[in-house]
Amino acid sequence: MSRVELAASGEVQEGRLHAVSAEGRSLLLTRVAGRACAVENRCPHFNLPMTRGRVEHGTIRCPWHGSRFDACTGENLDWVNSVAGLPLPAWSRALVAAGRKPAPLKTFNVTEADGKLYLEA
Ligand code: FES
Repeated sequence: MSRVELAASGEVQEGRLHAVSAEGRSLLLTRVAGRACAVENRCPHFNLPMTRGRVEHGTIRCPWHGSRFDACTGENLDWVNSVAGLPLPAWSRALVAAGRKPAPLKTFNVTEADGKLYLEA
């Protein structure tokens, strides 16, 4: 088991995304009810970065087509419902989904000690 430093504890805040690189991956960190959580910075819809996504009530919304994920479990909660923030009518969602089925975000185990966040691999 290895441990990789990700960020100082104070850099990761509720309601915000903090992008870091570790182990050759781009990750997004945030906090939910004080707990630090990490997901891969790659939307499973088109593998696009989610650095500019929105964090709301423990979820992360993809900035490209609005898919929403649980920020800690990665569970998909809503799939492709907008384009660049503009809502899509229900009939067009399947077109924008382009045949891709709802999928979760990959998550990572994060621990916190001595004012730092670590990726446990
Ligand atoms: S790239 Fe994220 S919802 Fe399409």
